Amino acid sequence: MKLDVHKIQNKNGLSIEVLNLGGIIRSIKTPDRKGVFEDVVLGFQDPKHYLEEHPYFGAIVGRFANRIAHGTFTLEGKEYSLAQNNGTNQLHGGLLGFDKVFWEVKPLENENGIQLSYTSKDGEEGYPGNLSVTVDYVLTDDNTLKVKYQAQTDKTTVINLTQHSYFNLSGDFSKQILDHELLLNADQYLPLDNTQIPKGNYQSVVDTPFDFSTLKTIGRDIEAKNEQLKIGNGYDHCWVINNPNNEIVKAAEVYHPESGRTMDVYTDQPGMQLYTANFLDNTLPSKTGGTYGPRTGFCVETQYFPNAPNEPSFPTTILKPGETFTSETWFQFSVK
Ligand code: GLA
Repeated sequence: MKLDVHKIQNKNGLSIEVLNLGGIIRSIKTPDRKGVFEDVVLGFQDPKHYLEEHPYFGAIVGRFANRIAHGTFTLEGKEYSLAQNNGTNQLHGGLLGFDKVFWEVKPLENENGIQLSYTSKDGEEGYPGNLSVTVDYVLTDDNTLKVKYQAQTDKTTVINLTQHSYFNLSGDFSKQILDHELLLNADQYLPLDNTQIPKGNYQSVVDTPFDFSTLKTIGRDIEAKNEQLKIGNGYDHCWVINNPNNEIVKAAEVYHPESGRTMDVYTDQPGMQLYTANFLDNTLPSKTGGTYGPRTGFCVETQYFPNAPNEPSFPTTILKPGETFTSETWFQFSVK
């Protein structure tokens, strides 16, 4: 299939560009407090780079976002083996996940946006069931990008979808995001073992570097002496969003003081993986010249909990025939 780019714009001039490859959001242009529009997501100028190895820039991630321990799980008595593409674990759906496949794209009829569709075949990347997935990208006139996921299967399977955009609200990708102020609506997070699999318990954020219950710069505690930060080489953890009723709630707020740009994230998902681009190593070309260095972006990946298929106490990620998986995440842009 041919790589193509789709543009969505709203009446205020905000725009996003989406590739049919991986449903990748390759740009989001939003104004700062003076009205200057800049691109606030990492990616490549030349779309061809997306066909090569990259760290999920802007992509839809599936069938299963984040890690599954040892690339294996048991469902209805049957054991499934998946590719181990992250040490001995599986990461982000395997070797050819949803970030690397071509999606059908069509305009939405009743909203300003597009619908991407993909059918993942029974057994693809080792997962059971033919899984039909749609992802809608909608850009509203209140400057909100809504991402709406739906999926159905013909065999019992597991599913966990997310959007893997790397944001830098400064619009300058040579700058680190450590000065961005972040608030997370979460009293707990999931501590990791040293292969980055959640241990299974929920840990209070109080008196730890993981406390973002009031606005705090991402950089304030990122270098603190802390076993968990060492494992992630910075933040690379899932927070438990305070959302007892599985409603759409505000999960995060990010504010960049210099530009005034603010992004509020709403979701109905139980978890949010905050990843501070700890593994970017100045090998990939930046859109604005130079290369992407460590911590020049942050991801707020709304999702079910990593390794949920192996952790019975976590909210279930099982999808059965006849059911419809639905989930929504909104990114709302404004200035302060
Ligand atoms: C997720 C993972 C990270 C890293 C990035 C992609 O956020 O948790 O460890 O793999 O994706 O590079």
